[in-house]
Amino acid sequence: MKNIFVRMRNLWRYPSWLYRMSAEKFPDVSSGKLRVLARLHAVKNELGERSVVNNLGALYTLPHPLAAKTYASFLNQNPNHLGHWADRLPQEGATIQLEYEVIRAMIDLYRANGKNLTGYITSGATEGNIFSVWLGKTYLSQFSPPEKIRLLMTSLTHYSVRKAADICGVTSDTIGLHTTTWAMDPDSFLETVRRLHKKGITGILLPLTLGYTSTGTSDDIAVISQAVTRLQKELPRLRIFVWIDAATQGLVTPFLSDFRPFRYPHIQTVVVDFHKYGLVPYSAGTLLYRRAMQTLIERPIEYLRETDATLSGSRPGVTAASIWSMIHIMGKQGYRRIITTQMSNKKYFIRELLRVLPETEVITGADGISCGILFRSLPAGRLPKHIEEKYWFHAGTSSIFFYPDGYKNLILYKCFFLPHMTKKIIAEFIRDLEKSSGQP
Ligand SMILES: Cc1ncc(COP(=O)(O)O)c(C=O)c1O
Repeated sequence: MKNIFVRMRNLWRYPSWLYRMSAEKFPDVSSGKLRVLARLHAVKNELGERSVVNNLGALYTLPHPLAAKTYASFLNQNPNHLGHWADRLPQEGATIQLEYEVIRAMIDLYRANGKNLTGYITSGATEGNIFSVWLGKTYLSQFSPPEKIRLLMTSLTHYSVRKAADICGVTSDTIGLHTTTWAMDPDSFLETVRRLHKKGITGILLPLTLGYTSTGTSDDIAVISQAVTRLQKELPRLRIFVWIDAATQGLVTPFLSDFRPFRYPHIQTVVVDFHKYGLVPYSAGTLLYRRAMQTLIERPIEYLRETDATLSGSRPGVTAASIWSMIHIMGKQGYRRIITTQMSNKKYFIRELLRVLPETEVITGADGISCGILFRSLPAGRLPKHIEEKYWFHAGTSSIFFYPDGYKNLILYKCFFLPHMTKKIIAEFIRDLEKSSGQP
């Protein structure tokens, strides 16, 4: 019965003249409650018409209803989490206690030693990457003048790392990708660092990616870590600050294999999103880092008792409540179930795609929950427009640097197996593809 009322309410449309308002002006007086509600209702209807279930190509999913409910129910209080709360059971309790528990739970998930780690709830991986460059640069500046610090990344590194380098005033260089794995090439890394060191560079910021956005491939943490050890023996004046951008895979890999990033002594921070596979509303992420680094960036808050060691300042308590609710509703078992289903969907998708278009190149990692696709046999390497639109695909022309071959311009599609994806939609996509390429 309740559903019928909800549906009727959703079908209801206010006449558009009622909520026509200037898009360019700050109103002089109130626009009136009815007009405001009518406009918001129209916007909500517009969102309702988007078919998220079809979304294969964009990194967007709906939150779990319980996470959304938690968010909404705390929103009228939404305590401010300004400060740093991860290390001792906070006196303040309430949602701050939940933030403490979230950070402790993530340390446990990554099977790390809680005494040596700290962290906080971020607005997502962009913030995590900016924080990591800020922390890393501050650390390296103890040994190197700022102009002797370089940030090294691959062509697939998320653009937020470039943004972070700009904000923190660090120059960056590109490391080649391996031609078959589409992960950071260890030889290119070694060669680049040695070349830069000869030119006087003594500090390196190195973001590794677990799940590149465009391909789902991951840098090999063990192999690059070995290369870092080798370089530090060879070049004693050199310091390297390494972190992992695990925006997408940070809540995937731990449910598929033994993921213990902090067992590598070079790894200083790990950045994760909760609004992708965590099923939490935007914007939500966690950042873990070595506690010994905290004093480098910690600041007193003159008007409060606590100190701040975060990038953002005021932070929403609703996010802590919402993440905490998902961790406890899902547990490892619940998340593992989703990830296992989506890995099976990925396999099914690849198998069917290669059956229909055998010349297609699919790029992915073994644990990767997404893939990159090069439609070699389609005209101009592009999907028909109606398929792009229906399944939310977008292909950019990417200029990608491979080692030792150099740059290649590619039309690269991304495909994500987010929690909403089903075999039925994948089968429908394959049928649409078959029809459009004139096959039976
Ligand atoms: C690898 C990677 N890093 C960073 C980000 C930025 O994350 P956010 O948009 O949550 O700030 C993304 C977003 O898709 C990503 O895929």
